Amino acid sequence: MGSILPPARSGSDRKLNAVTTAAEIPSLDLCGQVFEAVQEIAVVVSQEQVAANTFRMRLECPGVAAQIRPGQFFMVRSLERSDPLLGRPFALLDIIRNSGGEVTGLDFGYVVVGKMTQLLSQLDGGARLSIWGPLGNGFSLPQAEHVAIVAGGIGQTPFVAMLRELLGLETYGSSPRPLLHKPQQLTFCYGARTAAALAGVEWFDLPGVDVRLATDDGSRGHHGFVTDVLRQLIAGEAAPGEVYCCGPEPMMRAVANLINPAGIPGWLSLETPMACGFGACFSCVARIRQPDGTWDYRRSCVEGPVFPAADLVFAEDA
Ligand code: FES
Repeated sequence: MGSILPPARSGSDRKLNAVTTAAEIPSLDLCGQVFEAVQEIAVVVSQEQVAANTFRMRLECPGVAAQIRPGQFFMVRSLERSDPLLGRPFALLDIIRNSGGEVTGLDFGYVVVGKMTQLLSQLDGGARLSIWGPLGNGFSLPQAEHVAIVAGGIGQTPFVAMLRELLGLETYGSSPRPLLHKPQQLTFCYGARTAAALAGVEWFDLPGVDVRLATDDGSRGHHGFVTDVLRQLIAGEAAPGEVYCCGPEPMMRAVANLINPAGIPGWLSLETPMACGFGACFSCVARIRQPDGTWDYRRSCVEGPVFPAADLVFAEDA
């Protein structure tokens, strides 16, 4: 990994300059690689606990933050220790700008589930991390008039940036894409086990966004699965014309099983484990339907993590 994306030439300069673009790598031909990817040393600005075992961390990392788009991700690795050895992927929650409007960093969310996230949860402001990105394809812009978003667990975080882009509240990347079509209706459906596990509901208190919550135990919102909420939407008078989804795989399979038979286009953002993030290790493959009806493996890190719901073949269906 280090031989492909060498360490930042930070020296005494802590301005965190982007140092190596993937386009500078002459010997690799990685399908779908994000050529804006850079590696830099990020500095922890702050973090806050936003739900049970769930945190929102802010990084100063102008190189990655200036390029990243909604639905893309970046890899994080400790500079201080080699365990965990490999980086871990985290999705963009939103970018941060200074008072002059310059992009200075980004926020991401995580649940403490393993060594890396445990390590992150113990970091204070000023701690340094190695990050590389942006990676992955990100979300396409929707074409429908009514767009439904379905999120579960920590899968709600990528949709903060997506909604802010759709609402014209923020632009992303060095060449922001034009917003040619603005959906008339945005419904954000978010589910968790209990109310205490719902993280950052207030992030979605955005103009024109209809927030619908669900909890397994009924402690907040609909008592049941978030897919029940989607089912009701589909059965209603103004069914969504497009669905975006991120969360646990069983939830995404349930969403696909609702929208595919209804002929509603959908986009699923996978949370597959990743080791390199740029197409070299094949640790992140997903089964994708081929034109002849068979399926083949595709790397989530470079050809995803967002795939059409109609193309994904889940393990239970393979
Ligand atoms: Fe290595 Fe995708 S994470 S190929």
